[in-house]
Amino acid sequence: MISNSTFLITGGTGSFGNTLVNHLLKTDVSEIRILSRDESKQHEMRLTINDDRVRYFLGDVRNIDSVTRAVEGVDFVFHAAALKHVPAGELFPWEFTQTNILGSHNLLSAIENAGVKKSVFLSTDKAVYPVNAMGMSKALMEKLVRSQYYSGSSVNLITRYGNVIGSRGSVIPQFISSIRKSGKVQVTNLEMTRFMMSLEESVSLVLFALENGNPGDLFVQKAPAATVQNIVGALGILMEIESIEIEIIGVRPGEKIHETLLTSEEKFRCIEHQDYFQVPSIDSRDTSTYNMQLLNGVEYSSNTTEQLTQESLAELLARIPLISELLMQS
Ligand SMILES: NC(=O)c1ccc[n+]([C@@H]2O[C@H](COP(=O)([O-])OP(=O)(O)OC[C@H]3O[C@@H](n4cnc5c(N)ncnc54)[C@H](OP(=O)(O)O)[C@@H]3O)[C@@H](O)[C@H]2O)c1
Repeated sequence: MISNSTFLITGGTGSFGNTLVNHLLKTDVSEIRILSRDESKQHEMRLTINDDRVRYFLGDVRNIDSVTRAVEGVDFVFHAAALKHVPAGELFPWEFTQTNILGSHNLLSAIENAGVKKSVFLSTDKAVYPVNAMGMSKALMEKLVRSQYYSGSSVNLITRYGNVIGSRGSVIPQFISSIRKSGKVQVTNLEMTRFMMSLEESVSLVLFALENGNPGDLFVQKAPAATVQNIVGALGILMEIESIEIEIIGVRPGEKIHETLLTSEEKFRCIEHQDYFQVPSIDSRDTSTYNMQLLNGVEYSSNTTEQLTQESLAELLARIPLISELLMQS
């Protein structure tokens, strides 16, 4: 699929975008387009990557003209452009509505008009039983992708994932910096659990979806999770600090104690692959096999998946290049 194809990555200057671009450039891809707003991030990326198969489109997904121009002649789209910080969404929900919902609507319309073959829209565990504006905006993005409204020939897919270790603004680099500066960390709640995956795994997930997805399918990677307590403990092991001072600041508005990647209903009817769950969008109701016992309590959540110990998380973190670079500086 990748050979001689043209890709568009909205939000291509972000953590996911950079990882995907580097992956695609190792193949015989024909062209990779990046659509994003900030010219400085594009300039930095141009200097670092230095490959003329990458083209930069300055624009905002909120603007249909920017999106239409970027999509023209493209084979495959990855939609990563988003506002993603929960606290910001609670303060500015309309900004999240415009980027995450209206921006996705613009892109779906442009994809349909341009005859794009396949697209993958990146969603988050916060879109499941959403309690914050960010999750709600992503949940509506998912509904747009799965709706019959955009009924062109393009195949539009969704991937959902939880915390990406070492992505921009994520918690582990923040903890490392805080421990280094003051020997202490501020945490919301020690029992809170979060799914853990690497940037490379997020790229593998979207490529698996691209290769295997039928219209409207949703893909989730099987992932382990860790408590906040074990995240701090793992950093203690890696930074060789016996006891890190912990200040509990309480759960912030819009935050959950545990996250969910698949609802019971989705988990009940999904196709299970070795590393992924695939939830078809087709309505496959079958009352004869609807087993309430099986349905109850089978949601796929960060407190019911495999739990990482401090030691196993430390081993996992040590294998993440960005984290080991940060640790070497300490
Ligand atoms: N990181 C995680 O832990 C995580 C977890 C689950 C899901 N996801 C999803 O994965 C995707 C990528 O995340 P990431 O970690 O790579 O985020 P990121 O590093 O913050 O990158 C976001 C990208 O989107 C661009 N962008 C933001 N608003 C835009 C707009 N209105 N128009 C065009 N471009 C815009 C940004 O560039 P400019 O600012 O220059 O426009 C940047 O390139 C997001 O959809 C996110 O919701 C991430």
